[in-house]
Amino acid sequence: MLHSPACERNKGPILAMLQDWLPEGAQVLEIGSGSGQHAAFFCGQVPELVWQPSEREGVLAMLQAQLVTPNPIPLAFGARLLPPIPLDVTEAGQWPHQSFDAVFTANTCHIMPALALPQLLAGAARVLVPGGLLLLYGPFHDRGVHTAASNIAFDEHLRSLDPAMGVRDAVELQEQGAALGLQPLADVAMPANNRTLIFQQAALNASRLQP
Ligand SMILES: C[S@@+](CC[C@H](N)C(=O)[O-])C[C@H]1O[C@@H](n2cnc3c(N)ncnc32)[C@H](O)[C@@H]1O
Repeated sequence: MLHSPACERNKGPILAMLQDWLPEGAQVLEIGSGSGQHAAFFCGQVPELVWQPSEREGVLAMLQAQLVTPNPIPLAFGARLLPPIPLDVTEAGQWPHQSFDAVFTANTCHIMPALALPQLLAGAARVLVPGGLLLLYGPFHDRGVHTAASNIAFDEHLRSLDPAMGVRDAVELQEQGAALGLQPLADVAMPANNRTLIFQQAALNASRLQP
């Protein structure tokens, strides 16, 4: 079974952040659910939460197996943990044809290639309800200025593994988001020099009204 020690460390602080920002009974699309630990934990803690995990095709079967454990995952009252769906943010046809109150993703922006990030933002803008939130959790820098030496080392490590990976620029993401109608709403400091960048879908989403 896949198990992420990082998820165990960050799931509590992320839960507290989500409880501050998500509306009651929120329907959330998670991108790059990985081991499914976040999905299972949040659905065990937040009543009425509806959580849609997703992963890329090559990883999806493992996520599905994780979430069909021998024992049912204990859910908070009224919470629903939906079966994971295939979603690579660069595949426009894989984005769900339904609306969500929020799109959440943890520790994926520095893994996916930089060119995938505008597609992540554009896809989120398409599926979010007006007023819906996009929440990006992970390490970010601001125009090359890192918030900690550990993030510089992490960035170098990622780029040594694959030049397409790397810690992303929060300012650039906020500018790209704003151009797509996702207004930067908050930049929440998280433990271990991580952040959650929160964007809000402000306008009525005309593209979703088309048949
Ligand atoms: C470091 S893992 C994080 C997993 C999990 N969210 C967590 O916090 O433990 C990075 C994840 O990003 C996903 N990912 C990478 N590129 C992606 C893409 N183009 N579309 C969707 N997910 C992607 C990977 O499949 C992987 O699960």
